[in-house]
Amino acid sequence: MQPIVVALEQGKDPATTVRVNQSRVLPLRFLQCFLLFLVLGLGISIVSLNTVRYFGIQSLSPAVTRSTILRCFDEPQSIGTWVTPPSNLLHTMNDTELFWRASFVPQIKEYPFKRVRKIAFMFLAKGPLPLAPLWERFFKGHEGFYSIYVHSLPSYVHNFISSSVFYKRQIPSQIAEWGRMSMCDAERRLLANALLDISNEWFILVSESCIPLQNFSIIYHYISRSHYSFMGAFDEPGPYGRGRYNWQMQPEVTLAQWRKGSQWFEVDRELAVRIVQDSKYYPKFKEFCRPACYVDEHYFPTMLSIEVPHRLANRTLTWTDWSRGGAHPATFGKADIREGLFKKIFEGQTCLYNNQPSTVCFLFARKFAPSALDPLLGLASKVFGF
Ligand SMILES: *[C@@H]1O[C@H](CO)[C@@H](O)[C@H](O)[C@H]1NC(C)=O
Ligand SMILES: *[C@@H]1O[C@H](CO)[C@@H](O)[C@H](O)[C@H]1NC(C)=O
Ligand SMILES: *[C@@H]1O[C@H](CO)[C@@H](O)[C@H](O)[C@H]1NC(C)=O
Repeated sequence: MQPIVVALEQGKDPATTVRVNQSRVLPLRFLQCFLLFLVLGLGISIVSLNTVRYFGIQSLSPAVTRSTILRCFDEPQSIGTWVTPPSNLLHTMNDTELFWRASFVPQIKEYPFKRVRKIAFMFLAKGPLPLAPLWERFFKGHEGFYSIYVHSLPSYVHNFISSSVFYKRQIPSQIAEWGRMSMCDAERRLLANALLDISNEWFILVSESCIPLQNFSIIYHYISRSHYSFMGAFDEPGPYGRGRYNWQMQPEVTLAQWRKGSQWFEVDRELAVRIVQDSKYYPKFKEFCRPACYVDEHYFPTMLSIEVPHRLANRTLTWTDWSRGGAHPATFGKADIREGLFKKIFEGQTCLYNNQPSTVCFLFARKFAPSALDPLLGLASKVFGF
């Protein structure tokens, strides 16, 4: 309150104060508004009392008050409303509105503020996040370099404590059933919500059974220095690859363009916008990729391979064990968590990273059962470095 007192005492013109110090003007304006309200409120009360007495109605007053409120709090637009992330992830936009808003892209490439590029971790989960304590430890100390989004079935409400990194990070979801196209809808919804924060530069999709295999610094460097986005995309002959292609997808998607890849991806901001804004391929996949075609394994890999093939690493960062065969990958429980398991993951691989051979190919792994949590916490500092 001190600035106001000073300004009033010295009889300064408020306009001068504005120029001298931006912060001084705010309390002054509130005081003005407050006084205005007081006078207006009193006036309205008196008028209303008389109106009620004579006519038995309360006319005018709500409209008058509303317009005054609007004028008083209609502060001049500052860059802040565009660059600070929404404080509340809940909103009332439906998907059409949300995707439209999320597709805004600035045309001037230099940001007029210090933009610390963040990784958006997008958790696609049916219900709870049983491995949350491991992730909490992973994120600890790296505030400002990540943001978290959780998409669960609408009926499931997370109740993380306020000190948790997952506290109030649940986004509005609309899944009616755990189907395949609704899975892609959920992924696009996660991307769209995460795009609302202009500082999110990379977007990683993980599930409730995923774990990080490296510490945060390593993962941040690996992703931020990559020239490519980590979207698995390959042309697979046979019934589970090309066999799932439907000729009715022509001409938007031809057989030669058809790709398959893991559902678990990492994309940069430009690719995220492409996914959210797509209206060309979406209807084709929705109509012509139904089981035994699994849309979450084909839609994004195919679409991005057509539009931006040179931006894709064509591999996923998430390790999955398919060696046991069948339609479902192996799930690891308490008894499986030994150093040997991770040795196998770390040592058995080579891949290309920025066109150079690398032995670090996977940053995440799945699938881990809730019972794996305690042994994972025990091994984390030694094996994962966090
Ligand atoms: C969202 O709301 C708008 C306006 O009411 C409507 O035109 C649009 O179809 C809605 N979209 C969805 C996905 O419900
Ligand atoms: C990924 O595959 C596309 C073809 O779909 C190719 O153009 C691109 O160069 C590949 N990316 C890398 C990093 O090799
Ligand atoms: C992350 O892991 C690397 C290698 O395992 C290690 O050198 C580094 O000190 C770790 N960083 C932190 C912040 O713990």
